[in-house]
Amino acid sequence: STEETLVLVKPDGVARGLTGAILARIEAKGYSLVDVRLVEPDRAKLERHYAEHEGKPFYEPLLEFMMSGPSVAIRLAGNRVIEGFRSLAGTTDPTSAAPGTIRGDLGRDWGLKVQQNLVHGSDSPESAARELEIWF
Ligand code: CMP
Repeated sequence: STEETLVLVKPDGVARGLTGAILARIEAKGYSLVDVRLVEPDRAKLERHYAEHEGKPFYEPLLEFMMSGPSVAIRLAGNRVIEGFRSLAGTTDPTSAAPGTIRGDLGRDWGLKVQQNLVHGSDSPESAARELEIWF
């Protein structure tokens, strides 16, 4: 059934000029852009977004990375778009993400404390509702 998800083009994707390439893949797959916004999140917004990761070793580097530059927030709609976008994105680690995916084709390990993996996609309907409320 039709659902919505939150997609972020993270600061590495924006800084590398890959926003258009990532949007093109999303559009070519056939999902609908409902809203697109350039956002410079403050720490409070990121603490809400990443609440489940608080205390993990990569939490502070993750927040620093996400505050290093703007992200593009996308409200994306379509049948099974939550599952579908995560499939397009590939697995978290860009080194081993399958070729053909956004992370597999465009991402790599830069040897940093946090995995810079270009995009975020909500992982469930509950996460999507929660995250869309934070970013839009
Ligand atoms: P994302 O799916 O947006 O949400 C959590 C983020 O933390 C993830 O993308 C990566 O950027 C980062 N991350 C997850 N696991 C690790 C890890 N083991 N080491 C470093 N960064 C990670």
